[in-house]
Amino acid sequence: MSRTKKVSQSSSRAEADNKKLKKRKKRKVTRKKVIPRLPKKKKKEDSWNDKNKYSPQLLRGMKDILPAEQSARDYLLKKLTDLANAYGFKKIITPILEESKLFEKSTGLDTDVVKKQMYQFTDLGGKKVVVRPEFTPSIVRAYIEHGMFNLPQPLKFFYWGPAFRYERPQSGRYRQFHQFGLEVLGSNQALIDAEIILFSQTFFNDLNLPINIQVNSLGCAHCRSAYREELVNYLNSHKKSLCPDCQKRLEKNPLRILDCKNLLCQDIVSRAPQLINFLCKNCEKHFTKVLECLDEANVVYQLNPYLVRGLDYYTRTVFEIWPVIGEKEERGKSSLSALGGGGRYDTLIESLGGRETPAAGLSYGLERILQEMKTKNVRIYQARAPQIFFAQVGESAARHALRIFNELQSQGLKVAENFGKTSLKAQMKVADEMGVKLTLILGHQEVKDKTIIIRNMKTGNQEHVDVNKLIKEIKKRLK
Ligand code: HAM
Repeated sequence: MSRTKKVSQSSSRAEADNKKLKKRKKRKVTRKKVIPRLPKKKKKEDSWNDKNKYSPQLLRGMKDILPAEQSARDYLLKKLTDLANAYGFKKIITPILEESKLFEKSTGLDTDVVKKQMYQFTDLGGKKVVVRPEFTPSIVRAYIEHGMFNLPQPLKFFYWGPAFRYERPQSGRYRQFHQFGLEVLGSNQALIDAEIILFSQTFFNDLNLPINIQVNSLGCAHCRSAYREELVNYLNSHKKSLCPDCQKRLEKNPLRILDCKNLLCQDIVSRAPQLINFLCKNCEKHFTKVLECLDEANVVYQLNPYLVRGLDYYTRTVFEIWPVIGEKEERGKSSLSALGGGGRYDTLIESLGGRETPAAGLSYGLERILQEMKTKNVRIYQARAPQIFFAQVGESAARHALRIFNELQSQGLKVAENFGKTSLKAQMKVADEMGVKLTLILGHQEVKDKTIIIRNMKTGNQEHVDVNKLIKEIKKRLK
């Protein structure tokens, strides 16, 4: 055999070997493919545990409000409602579910809230509905629908309840949160803008929470279109340095760029033209009046020419309430989020089919206020807590206990009980933990004698009193 033949023979063998190897590899791969895959582990989010059993868990961004959190919450809501009543606001409750269109036409189709954050679905009747992301549009709907423009104006409403936004959860940002709010419909007076800002200062001062109130004017549609042109010209010259989101906003909603949290955008914005210099005469006059009223009422505020707010319906005055970082607090500015915000919305009612009706309002985020109260160690005054604990021992006492307890409550006394516990020792422990001033003790002998024991929790002193004179005796000791 010639050398060349040998070489070609051996090379063709090598080729054949190679082919075999490739085939085997291929086969191997194919074989690998048919190996049955183990079922994928269910992610924890699916609420299924390793044994494929359902283990219920809270949805992301939602929050259980446990008994331990209730006293601070009740305290906060009581303070808010008391102050709202004192300012002449009347409570209004609207449904959580509304037509999607209501928010599309008011909050605005281009806003993050409507575009990205609404929990919406088609109901069984085929209607597109949404769990409210805010209250203002609902209040306006109710105002129009119930013909409230026929009542003496302005109308002042307050409300509180849950709102829902599908946001990325983080500290102070939930998907279900609670708002408290005020709305004044039917007045264009600058005094009203000042009144709701003053409400905020009074409320947060009273709560002992330091705040920073930021105020701006967005003018009317007329001022805004002149400003918009100027702003777009300026921003176009910095387009390349803007974040991708703002580059998009530049086309559709350039004013929102003023609100961007990106540091580079903020730097560009800090040299941008200011809306306040573009206000028409009427809007300027209105804003000057608002500021004069605020000064008159000693409200401390800061002018923020770049405050725009993220909802479409605002005209003229807008404001936000921010927490202030205490000297000893270890947290950065970025961990702060607005406690509340609001402003005037003079064209919203008309745009939803009502009469031309100026209006203004605000909303606070209750979770954010509660979080701030915790951070700042705000004291929840004991006066809100019950001052009396009612303990009962034995069957005959149990029968009378509810009646007496009810009588005390109907007299406006703040009484607590824990009738589920039968031993006196356990009940006294609860009374002690509550820090009440007096404990009433009703046992078998007392029922027989028509008396009740009043125990002074501080001194430990116990006295039998006539049960028919109980209320008088309690009031005497609570003075
Ligand atoms: P807003 O600025 O969208 O305004 O919300 C008001 C407040 O609700 C915020 O300042 C914040 O405290 C709280 N909040 C908003 N989103 C969340 C969230 N995901 N988690 C926790 N808290 C949140 C309005 O809603 C307007 N309706 C205010 C208004 C009333 N303007 C005129 N009248």
